[in-house]
Amino acid sequence: MRGVFRPPAPVPPADMPGLLRLLATLKRNPLECWSAGFFEQPIVRVRLPFLDPVLVHDPAAIKRVLVDNSANYRKDPIQRRILATGLADGLLSVEGQRWDVQRRTLAPLFARRTVTSFTDAMLRAADNLGNHWGKLKPGSIVDVAAEFTLLTLHVLALTIFSDGIGSNFDAFRVAMNDYFGAIGRISVLDLIGAPDYVPRRGRRRLRQTMAYFEGVIDEVIAARRRRLDHSTDTGAPDDLLALLLRALDPATGRPMSLAEVRANVLTFLSAGHETTANALAWAAFLLSQSPYWSARVRAEADAELDGDRNGLLERLVVTKAVVEEALRLYPSIAALSRVPERAEVIGEISLQPQSLIVIAPYILHRHRRLWEQPDLFDPTRFLGAAKAKIPRFAYLPFGAGPRTCIGSSFALQEATLVLARLVQRFDMQLVPGAKVWPLQKITLRPGYGLPMRITPRSNARHPPCCDCQPG
Ligand code: HEM
Repeated sequence: MRGVFRPPAPVPPADMPGLLRLLATLKRNPLECWSAGFFEQPIVRVRLPFLDPVLVHDPAAIKRVLVDNSANYRKDPIQRRILATGLADGLLSVEGQRWDVQRRTLAPLFARRTVTSFTDAMLRAADNLGNHWGKLKPGSIVDVAAEFTLLTLHVLALTIFSDGIGSNFDAFRVAMNDYFGAIGRISVLDLIGAPDYVPRRGRRRLRQTMAYFEGVIDEVIAARRRRLDHSTDTGAPDDLLALLLRALDPATGRPMSLAEVRANVLTFLSAGHETTANALAWAAFLLSQSPYWSARVRAEADAELDGDRNGLLERLVVTKAVVEEALRLYPSIAALSRVPERAEVIGEISLQPQSLIVIAPYILHRHRRLWEQPDLFDPTRFLGAAKAKIPRFAYLPFGAGPRTCIGSSFALQEATLVLARLVQRFDMQLVPGAKVWPLQKITLRPGYGLPMRITPRSNARHPPCCDCQPG
């Protein structure tokens, strides 16, 4: 098999660590907790003094939890508590009837046609980064993971607020960074279920950051409402914000409240930012280790990128397979969790109300019973007939069922287009000796960044410099 290799990942220990080490590892990098049994058994119950999580990696049982009986399951309180600040009224956090209404109101924002219409904005953001790299001395070293985090925020800014972010884009970016730093610190208090009034480190700072976001977003919304209300302003942009402000619940015809619009803008920014940046970073890293696949992606980009933009994504099959394989090995959301409201039996395990269920795409995607050579990078799994053979509930980078990621097509399109464009224009080589290690901190990121030597390809096309930095 050409271009296949084993990229870095923790080797699962034979047994789970003892309680104190387990707590320390959960805090440092939960990925390193999972012992070999989790990658071999379909369903495992872990006995801990403060909770007994059940890890479910049997496709039929996953289907039961996420799809067939999804009405019996809620997102778990730990996840909700971590997300609560600022996002509480957004699609990621709401439950029950409120979720129902929001999901059907927001669905058109991420319909295929709308997402396809963002092709130009996504390529523009890639070219903007490419033009910046093009001005560096050839062979300069950049932290590609950090650059992709900026780029995906830029794509969201261009597609949500295409006429600018109102205040300073850099200040917004710094605040976003602070926000992820703060929510990334999983508190032991959260793990043991301590009530909300027990103070957590960093929460005050987080509230200040959220107040800043809310101020900026409220200004942008107010300015946009004025433009949309002004019947003579025919140039008001047709971006996600316009769609959000015009969105009506198809059942009742009701628009969203200001709090819901604001929470969903923030939700899209936070749910769609680091997740997509990490998918891109892992894909770039994997290509840097595989000259064979790098050459295939480049040949495809050279053949397709500068032609007809209609159906472009469908023609970038190799690049998309690389992104999908990167999301298999390093799923940005490494674990999902749910709690049942009523008791039920899953496999042979009986779940009590409020039991914690963990479905970890990281484990599922490397499960010995579901994948051949699961730890090897091999994009052919996602090409042609091989892709059709992947069991539906063995590959869940975007979750499944009613709460599946609403932005999955957006993210796959963005990652594929950006990767193709940058590989077309540059050689990206990992700096020799650089340590690359997956770290689970809300999202699954390269823990030490991704220092790469960037060299423009001599025969690559250079799009004109564009000045599309928002703000
Ligand atoms: C590679 C990139 C992405 C990955 C891996 C990813 C992954 C996921 C996963 C696994 C879920 C389900 C969580 C659960 O069931 O508990 C989810 C939900 C969600 N994602 Fe994404 N996501 C990505 C990009 C995006 C983008 C670009 C957006 C929006 C711009 C977005 C918005 C959302 C929202 C709003 C939800 C909640 C949906 C609901 O509960 O109805 N995501 N995402």
